[in-house]
This record gives sequence, C-alpha cells and structure tokens, in this order.
Amino acid sequence: MEASNRTIAAAPSLSELAERLYAPGEFTRKASSYLAEYERIFAGRRHEKLRILELGVSSGASMMLWRDYLPHATIVGLDIDPMPDVLAGLDRIHILRASQDDIAALDQAMALAGGPFDVIVDDASHLGYLTKRSFLHLFPHCLKPGGTYVIEDFGTGFMPEYPDGQEYRDPPWNDAEPDATVFASHQHGMVGVVKQLADPMMQQLITGQRSFLAIERLTILANLAIVQKSMEPAGPMPPALVRPPPRVEAIERELRLLTRRVAEQEEAVAAEIALLHDRVAELEVVLGNVVAPLQPFRRIWRGLTGKSA
Ligand SMILES: C[S@@+](CC[C@H](N)C(=O)[O-])C[C@H]1O[C@@H](n2cnc3c(N)ncnc32)[C@H](O)[C@@H]1O
Repeated sequence: MEASNRTIAAAPSLSELAERLYAPGEFTRKASSYLAEYERIFAGRRHEKLRILELGVSSGASMMLWRDYLPHATIVGLDIDPMPDVLAGLDRIHILRASQDDIAALDQAMALAGGPFDVIVDDASHLGYLTKRSFLHLFPHCLKPGGTYVIEDFGTGFMPEYPDGQEYRDPPWNDAEPDATVFASHQHGMVGVVKQLADPMMQQLITGQRSFLAIERLTILANLAIVQKSMEPAGPMPPALVRPPPRVEAIERELRLLTRRVAEQEEAVAAEIALLHDRVAELEVVLGNVVAPLQPFRRIWRGLTGKSA
C-alpha cells in the first residue's frame, strides 16, 4: 500500500532545530551536551501541555527552540534586556523584561504560564548571587513537584573575568589525613551555589526535618546542573527567607528611606554647625586684634574712674 511505503518524517531533534534557529557562530548557542540532556528531560513528554520558563532570552533562539520542539507548551522568557523583535507576536511565547532576582516578575511569569512550571532553565546572568536568588524563589514556589530546574554554564565560577569567578585550582589532594575534617573545594560563584545544593538534599535523611528545597536528585554534568524536585511536600521556608506581606514590606521600605533622609539632614546640620564654629573662631581672632590695642586705654580708664571698661 502506498501509505505504508510513505516515510513518515521524524520530528526534528533539538540539535537539528538549534542548527536552524541559532545564527552561525552565535555565542549563546546551547552546547550539544545540553541539548542531549534536554532531550532526555522531555523524552515521552513532547506532546504534553508543558510550562517552560527560561531566564535569559538573548536572541530568542532558545524560546523558538522550545516552541518548535514542544508543540503544546507555553514558554515564558525573562530577560533584563528588551525582547528581540523576532519573538513579537509569536503564540505560546511570553516575554518579561526584568532581572532574574525580581520576585514579583518571577511570580508574574508563573501567572502568565497559567501555573507552576514543569521545567525552569536559568541561562541568565551566570552570577552566583543572582542564580541563587532565582533558585530560592522559583524552586519552592514556581516549580511543580517532580519538575526539573536546570542551571546552565555554572563553570563561570571558574572564570576570573566574572565578578565572582576565580581561576581553577586543584583541591588540596594531600588532605586525606586521619585528622582531616573538612575537604575544601572551589566554591566561587555559581560553582559554590551548585555545590551548596547537596546540603538541603541530605537534610531530611540526616536531621529528619524536610528542607524547604525538596530536592529529589541533583545531577551535575560539566557546566550543567539538573535539579529534580521531589513529589514529596517540602519543609517550611527558613525564617530568613520568609517575606513580609507586601504592605509591611512597603512600610519597611518607606522607613528605610526616611531613616536615610534624616541621616542626610543630620549630616547637613552638623556640617553647618562646623562652619559656624569656624566663623566664630575667626571672629574671636578679629575681636582679639581689635581689643588688644585698647588695653592701655582700659587701664587708664580704670585708674580714672575705678570702673572697668
Ligand atoms: C546566555 S544569554 C541567554 C541565551 C538564551 N537562553 C539561549 O539559549 O539562546 C544570557 C541572557 O541573560 C540576560 N541577563 C543578564 N543578566 C540578567 C539578569 N540579571 N536578569 C535577567 N536576564 C539577564 C542577558 O541580557 C542575556 O540576554
């Protein structure tokens, strides 16, 4: 039969789509090892109504990559820079302009997608503190149980050209001694952030208390960290991360502003007083210069009248 002889075109792989969507030599193109991992993450799920968030949009190629690979997915991109023209008006793609640590924008991203995400990709600043801030909010609040959080390019922590990077040094391999209790390793920037994730993953096993980061599995590949969220409920947020209600936050912000203004006024008044002190000292000198020549006359006056002048 003709139909059975017809070859059904296989859906393009992520590598094939990347070849098509990224400009030749585009610096931000995802490495083929990353694409292989994403194929594994999406295996058997391509036709689900997935919700994907990517921090870092750049040319928009990865937004289109997800859109073409996952025909029913809703994709939200967030970038500090303006949206590239190529994405304007594309269905299933939403773009937000904000920093990756803007909590309100991260919540807005989830609202745009219509609920928590299945997969979150952080390919934005590649700075440790920003990566960590995004993770601490998105992983507990905006990722589905069983969802996947991918941190790309964490090797920037080994790059001295990054503000928080430092060049690679071997760990102290001669520290395997009976009295050794701490085994140091590179902790700079995103490298440190990724290594820290091993702690909350161990928390329940060791302490019996669930962590607020319900990490089921942490897969670390060269330059790519894949964090899978547990289906089990997470523990409570640590007090340090509990945000006050928006009204309280606004009042605290106002208070900080007023305190800064009062401090500035105090400084200005202190500077004014110092100036006046200087002026008084100058006037005392001038007065001294005027009074000194009059001393002989004052003595004569006292001698004549018995009164002091
Ligand atoms: C490596 S590119 C993203 C590439 C894109 N994900 C892809 O695969 O084609 C990094 C992007 O992160 C953005 N970026 C840098 N700092 C950011 C921040 N603090 N918040 C959000 N985006 C940021 C940059 O503007 C840039 O577009």
